[in-house]
Amino acid sequence: MCGIFGYAGEGVTSAVLVEGIRRLEYRGYDSWGLALACDDGIALLRRVGRIGSAEDTALDGCSCRAGVAHTRWATHGAPTEENAHPHRDCTGRIAVVHNGIIENHAALRARLQGLGHVFASETDTEVIPHLIEEMWKTEPDFGEAFLAAVRLLVGTFGIAVVQADAPDRLWAARLGSPMVLGLGKGRTLLASDPAPLVAHTREVIYLDDGEIAVLTSDGFETRTLEGGTVTKPVQRIAFDLPAIERGGFPHFMLKEIHEQPESLRNAFRGRIVRAEGTAKLGGVEPHLLRSAKRCHIVSCGTSLNAGLIGKYLLEQLARLPTQVSNGAEFRYAQPVVEPDTLVIAISQSGETADTLGAVREAKMQGASAVGICNVVGSTIARECGQGVYIHAGPEIGVASTKAFTSQLVVLALLAVHLGRMRGLSLRAGLQYLDAIECLPAQAARILERESELAEMAGLLARASHVLYCGRLYEWPAALEGALKLKEISYIHAEGVQAAELKHGPIALVEPDVPVVVLAAQAAVRAKTLGNIHEIRARGGRVIALIREGDGEAAALAERSFAVPSTLDPLLPVLEAIPLQLLAYHAAVALGRDVDHPRNLAKSVTVE
Ligand code: F6R
Repeated sequence: MCGIFGYAGEGVTSAVLVEGIRRLEYRGYDSWGLALACDDGIALLRRVGRIGSAEDTALDGCSCRAGVAHTRWATHGAPTEENAHPHRDCTGRIAVVHNGIIENHAALRARLQGLGHVFASETDTEVIPHLIEEMWKTEPDFGEAFLAAVRLLVGTFGIAVVQADAPDRLWAARLGSPMVLGLGKGRTLLASDPAPLVAHTREVIYLDDGEIAVLTSDGFETRTLEGGTVTKPVQRIAFDLPAIERGGFPHFMLKEIHEQPESLRNAFRGRIVRAEGTAKLGGVEPHLLRSAKRCHIVSCGTSLNAGLIGKYLLEQLARLPTQVSNGAEFRYAQPVVEPDTLVIAISQSGETADTLGAVREAKMQGASAVGICNVVGSTIARECGQGVYIHAGPEIGVASTKAFTSQLVVLALLAVHLGRMRGLSLRAGLQYLDAIECLPAQAARILERESELAEMAGLLARASHVLYCGRLYEWPAALEGALKLKEISYIHAEGVQAAELKHGPIALVEPDVPVVVLAAQAAVRAKTLGNIHEIRARGGRVIALIREGDGEAAALAERSFAVPSTLDPLLPVLEAIPLQLLAYHAAVALGRDVDHPRNLAKSVTVE
């Protein structure tokens, strides 16, 4: 949610900065801008819309030693050139980019206006350059003025600053919004996440909350907001440049859908202990798992749908009572959390503010939190202190795909592990592990039949409303199918429990409203087929996901797609893939910008 890129070193140009934020565009794409610190002042460029118009070259020929750039997801003020970052102080010599929300901006703005500062935008961010300017009037050292200003901010922020009187350096601060420093040869960089750094270096430092940094071409210094010194460990980015490029696919989303055979394998690689019929999850303290009496899963969006499937897995395999909450609801609903509650935070990015808030709340109430994250070193992963990485590789498409299926595999491994501690038999444990190991090849078989789904997607693309339904494990899978369709095609889609249809939603059924029924689960097959009959009897048109070889179910539906046979609890992993492809092809048929759906951004770092 907003991307920041900064560069300290010889030869910084607008092209270098644009290249940096282009790799962060998935974090926000309603407007963008950059500032170069030149000896004669700040050179500024701000534009509305996607990065990449011909005007990107407006500052060509201007080469400096420090610059910052920003791609925006609007919070305060519409996406206009005035509201685009960077924002400047009254003198125009300080330029600031910011990710997050300054909660006390209204009070600060009023105070600064009272002191004569003139504001040019509606943003919360603009208070920052004016505040630094104000502090600098009495504090001769710019770094100290910056620190003093940051101390007055309430809210969340990742901030990067350039100023014309020291045009060889950048200042940065972090509280609640991610910030990574990259250590290159003759250059030091900063970014909201590691993606734009890989082109320059694989050596990185993750700033922690409450830390500030000053960067020059030779390196960096960090301090805490209280003024204390900190030594930061250097870490290595695990992925390379091809992992964050489209590699011949028309969209990142399609590339990531097709990566699933590999990402699924990476989720269980090295974690299966056949001799004991269990999974090895090195990142979680065994005593914590053994002593847990109940679980509470916290997550948002697609990760919340994974959590709902996780609840069924944990209850069925490990007999652990499990609750699932959206992160924000958890934080504010005063949930009952005991010391023996295992809180499981699921987050692809590891930066989602609502999920992070829930983790902090849970820890404050004395519970232990375990993270299931994709991004290594992300805030949630670090704050949980223990957890399991899903190792899906960078996910750039705004709609989450491969992360979802990898989250499900890790949840299944966790359920087997907890189950084996609580009476799940060796035989049952081995059955699950065998089935998990088959998933990559089964996913590959589904992907080979993409053209069938592209053709079926035409039916969805012509609709204004689509219902998705399923029972038990297939209900959250239906929610995820509906979420995929609505977020990238803008077709209204609802996921409902198939058993709930008759209690209301069936009123929506008519020939123009296709119903996608997930009907592959063995345990409730007869009931789900009954639901298909009910829909058909009311003139509804059914696209069904069925189990391979289920001729009766195929004959009932208008269109069907058979998924390979697996254990019921693992079906959502396989069913997710055709649902992703249906949504993708419906969106492409409608000419939607699949990787940049309107109003959205990846990594939601505001509450
Ligand atoms: C949907 C999607 C979002 C995210 C949600 C949580 O395709 O991507 O719903 O799942 O914003 O994000 P993470 O998993 O990063 O916490």
